[in-house]
Amino acid sequence: MKNSELPAGERGAFNVDARLSPTLPSRYYHDAQIHRQELHNIFHKSWCYVGHASQVPNPGDYRVERIADQCIFLVRDQNSILNAFFNVCQHRGHELLSGSGTRRKSIVCPYHAWSYGLDGKLIQAPHTDRLKNFDTAEFALKPVALANCGGLLFARLDNSATDFATDYPGLAQTFSDHLADFDRFGTALQLDFDIAANWKIVVDNFSEGYHIPVAHKKLSRVLDNGTGKCGRLEQNYAFFESRSKAGFPGLELEPGSAYLSWTLWPNTCMLSLPGCQNLIVIRMAPYGPDRCREHVDLLSVNGEISPELEAIRDLFVDEFNAEDIAIVESVHRGLRSMGYDQGRYVADDGDNWYSESGLHRFHQQILSALGH
Ligand code: FES
Ligand SMILES: [Fe+2]
Repeated sequence: MKNSELPAGERGAFNVDARLSPTLPSRYYHDAQIHRQELHNIFHKSWCYVGHASQVPNPGDYRVERIADQCIFLVRDQNSILNAFFNVCQHRGHELLSGSGTRRKSIVCPYHAWSYGLDGKLIQAPHTDRLKNFDTAEFALKPVALANCGGLLFARLDNSATDFATDYPGLAQTFSDHLADFDRFGTALQLDFDIAANWKIVVDNFSEGYHIPVAHKKLSRVLDNGTGKCGRLEQNYAFFESRSKAGFPGLELEPGSAYLSWTLWPNTCMLSLPGCQNLIVIRMAPYGPDRCREHVDLLSVNGEISPELEAIRDLFVDEFNAEDIAIVESVHRGLRSMGYDQGRYVADDGDNWYSESGLHRFHQQILSALGH
């Protein structure tokens, strides 16, 4: 990426050096054309988190999911193999499934009853016996690549040959190294939040700790900012380890307990708060340039909800996620102001907890995916 080719705003061109760069011009957060390019170049071509294996535990279980504007479903076949398909009938395009549930043997389209096996093969199409040049084998459901990273499921729409473990090297290990019973994790809770902000603003906000002492008073009683260090930095993800303070009444903590966070390209952030074994998986699903939905999976050992997990849920839902939503919606409005185009990344020479270098890295990756 050469500086001369990078997009410019009122404070000049984006710079590959975070210490010198103005921030991403504000049009990147509301321009409809840029948004369409993001869907095509990012969401249609990246591994995106789509849920946890515990959400489809038994043969026949399915779950409909979206990756940006594309609807897919996950289904466990009779051999307990998890598959993913585009949620569209190959006859005339009716959607096949909605929500979640169980189909014992087949998936029948509600429009003209074409029926598909749980492996996606077309097994029956009424009144097609005398149809010329019609081969059911050519009308199987279109598959979506699916990867299982210790129970976390990632789907990739373009079905390219890339391998998840190659794209996210060592990611599975970061979970098993730090969460002793990760292979027994299940879903304790699923939450959705509608947010009036561009999806990137929500990811931006998760990419820096600069705002934590200012905007999250209660979280600051748990997190010891000064202890944060990068545990692993790869092209497509970063993993950070911090330590906790003593907590607060209702969430008393052993000082120094692990506080973990991950950011994954393009739209997933994860947190493991001290108090018990847990993983909060957060993904930002765009609904146009001005809205997104934040899907949250709260995972714990066997999906159990202990008093500690309830305290963590309350801290997340009632405190800092609510605070973050108010922040990102305000920033979204601000980025449409005629009084703002670009600011500065707060990134100096040190490797400090307040550095916005991860934010700059995310923006660099956005620009590179867009070919800007
Ligand atoms: S669209 Fe599905 S059977 Fe006709
Ligand atoms: Fe925050």
